[in-house]
Amino acid sequence: MFEVDSAPVLNLKDATAADARPAARRVSVIADLREDWLSTLAAHGFDRRRPTAWVAEGLLPYLTPPQADALLTTITAVSAPGSRFAGEYLSRPTRMTDLPMSDEQDRAVANVFVSADQGGPDVEPEKWLSAHGWTGEQVDFADELAAAGHELPALFDPAKPDPLRLWLFTGRL
Ligand SMILES: C[S@@+](CC[C@H](N)C(=O)[O-])C[C@H]1O[C@@H](n2cnc3c(N)ncnc32)[C@H](O)[C@@H]1O
Repeated sequence: MFEVDSAPVLNLKDATAADARPAARRVSVIADLREDWLSTLAAHGFDRRRPTAWVAEGLLPYLTPPQADALLTTITAVSAPGSRFAGEYLSRPTRMTDLPMSDEQDRAVANVFVSADQGGPDVEPEKWLSAHGWTGEQVDFADELAAAGHELPALFDPAKPDPLRLWLFTGRL
């Protein structure tokens, strides 16, 4: 299992997990996913001839639409038949008015989140995946919560003007 992330995150994870006994071999790959991360991944032993299960959890909103497209173009180019891709992103960039704020601390956290949000892909997952040759399936997080009997967080209130939606997707080649 290869984990691609920035140096501060992976250095902290490596130190924290030093005594863990993972069921699979975990390889930290320090790279910026907006740049040439593939050569770094390959240098760590990634084998493009074998199918890969790619997971982009919590990542895509940090990328602009063209950066997200470039990421998926690279992933697609090195995905053997049978590869899978899973992830999630929001239907539009978040705004300060989307986030519940009861005090200054909430406001500071919301400000960090909103300023970091670059939007991610600018089309819904099934269209995005199919434009890159993948067969995709998407679900709306709010529907999944409702089906499981959970309350919907205010963030995703469908009654709000221009409601925010969270798409969860899987794709296969
Ligand atoms: C919400 S976290 C997801 C964490 C991850 N799914 C996990 O379980 O550990 C988002 C991660 O994306 C990483 N990230 C954001 N932009 C990145 C980029 N351009 N290159 C590499 N990693 C990036 C951040 O450093 C952060 O660790």
